[in-house]
Amino acid sequence: CGIVGYVGGQAALDVVFAGLQRLEYRGYDSSGVAVLADGGLAAAKKEGKLANLQKELAERPLPTGTTGIGHTRWATHGAPNDVNAHPHLDNSGRVAVVHNGIIENFAGLRAELTDRGHELGSETDTEVVAHLLAEAFSSCGDLAEAMRQVCGLLEGAFTLVAVHADEPDVVVGARRNSPLVVGVGEGEAFLASDVAAFIAHTREAIELGQDQVVELRRDGVTVTGFDGAPAQVRTYHVDWDASAAEKGGYDYFMLKEIAEQPKAVADTLLGRIDASGSLTLDEVRIPVSVLREVDKVVIVACGTAYHAGMIAKYAIEHWTRVPCETELASEFRYRDPILDSRTLVIAVSQSGETMDTLMALRHAREQGAKVLAICNTNGSTIPRESDAVLYTHAGPEVAVASTKAFLTQLVACYLVALYLGQVRGTKWGDEIGTVIEELSEIGNEVEEVLGTMEPVRELARSLADKNTVLFLGRHVGYPVALEGALKLKELAYMHAEGFAAGELKHGPIALIEQDVPVVVVVPSPRGRSVLHDKIVSNIQEIRARGARTIVIAERGDETVHPYADHLIEIPRTPTLLQPLVATVPLQVFACELATARGNEVDQPRNLAKSVTVE
Ligand code: G6P
Repeated sequence: CGIVGYVGGQAALDVVFAGLQRLEYRGYDSSGVAVLADGGLAAAKKEGKLANLQKELAERPLPTGTTGIGHTRWATHGAPNDVNAHPHLDNSGRVAVVHNGIIENFAGLRAELTDRGHELGSETDTEVVAHLLAEAFSSCGDLAEAMRQVCGLLEGAFTLVAVHADEPDVVVGARRNSPLVVGVGEGEAFLASDVAAFIAHTREAIELGQDQVVELRRDGVTVTGFDGAPAQVRTYHVDWDASAAEKGGYDYFMLKEIAEQPKAVADTLLGRIDASGSLTLDEVRIPVSVLREVDKVVIVACGTAYHAGMIAKYAIEHWTRVPCETELASEFRYRDPILDSRTLVIAVSQSGETMDTLMALRHAREQGAKVLAICNTNGSTIPRESDAVLYTHAGPEVAVASTKAFLTQLVACYLVALYLGQVRGTKWGDEIGTVIEELSEIGNEVEEVLGTMEPVRELARSLADKNTVLFLGRHVGYPVALEGALKLKELAYMHAEGFAAGELKHGPIALIEQDVPVVVVVPSPRGRSVLHDKIVSNIQEIRARGARTIVIAERGDETVHPYADHLIEIPRTPTLLQPLVATVPLQVFACELATARGNEVDQPRNLAKSVTVE
């Protein structure tokens, strides 16, 4: 969910609404706002996208006030309808609260409140907080103190922001696990899940830590722990500006982000490879002596980041000969994994706040493992709680389906793999030199792929009425196939599945029927040519059974031409780096199919970009 709070001299509703527009990527199944005005509190909320709320506000305007809060929701408890939308108010209508996360003990709290005569109308876990705050405020008369008391009663992960009509120039926030950032302006202050919400007003920000409460007033902010003890805070300057979070002439953020990939890749490499071809990853504060002793690497991640992690496994094992496993973060801690001080856990996350990944890394650290985060969001929770972080420099990614963040995650994974090889002295031979040179060129190659995408778009449009698309790959092409299928599910809402091509004959081949589109990612014919030849046989097998083959292959690989109904050529790259170029056509393909099917590209149904619940 996305949260915004404002206190200052401007019309709060305008600031809050514009902030919500920037945060809509975090959830968009309902939204709402509350403002303090004329000694009271006024709220509006609506099911569906922000546009519905905007219409509601135009039809029934709220009074103008200079203190307000807002929320855009990704439903956890209760259907996405008007009643369950945030903010939630207490019975007196003088307290309003918005929430991100899950309050696990809400059922018990709700029963207690009902016993005490409160009437709760929604199915959400959030509503109890409004009632509890009203009770606490009536005895202490201070919203920040009331918030601290209430937080002591709550279990689970939550970020809360509240206002009370009796304290008209105050907004209070509380943070446990889910993100919350403070923006500090001149005579005004902001609270939001992400700096994007207030970047148009100020670039001075304060990150709240775990279990902290913040009180915002026009003339300053006060941060304490849940226990009331003053907290030390660090102000930092956000180094990108509002234009980075705008569409810049593209119809969708996703198109802009796909186009930005050459730069994102180059930025992530910047300053990390020196003229002699060795790597300097100063951010990796884990001592070299510890890295030399590592005897196992475990990568944890979710969604697209998990696919980057799957590819990293091939690179790490090949270049370092250290065993590496990649695991879905949501599965990891529940199987009691074997970890110790010689295990290096790599947590890959664009947002740095995915709860499944955060919980996995906490578990790893509790077991004594060292954790390295690969992350795109400066100062977010995952890097803060890790032993070290390697930032990707993709810039803000707004479209829910990840593109440029994925490519930069791959680059970062390669850098870590090469660095491990460098410090451990394994395989640091000619191959590595070539790879580093190629890596420096990869931005241009991605650019080249982007320049040849019109036939891919045309092909996508021609498949708009299909029900199923299958994806096949081997080796690093297998995670690429999975990523291609995920993009299509997310964006085109089609049945899309990725398979290891060798596994085809063990089951999935039964899915092949006349004219089913099958995308095949073909490895380079050079180097690992056995793999190449095997996949060419796989293409023949499916084609013989009627499949319509869409073949992604290296330029000049003529062996595949006779079996490709559609050929998508990509530049020559070393096998392990091929995903950086092979994924790009699949992103374009999914984006165009979504458009052709009339779907929302940037905000696919049911999804959210940052999933801050487990
Ligand atoms: C959500 C998004 C996915 C993303 C995943 C992991 O499910 O919809 O696109 O890959 O989270 O996100 P992270 O921020 O941890 O990379």
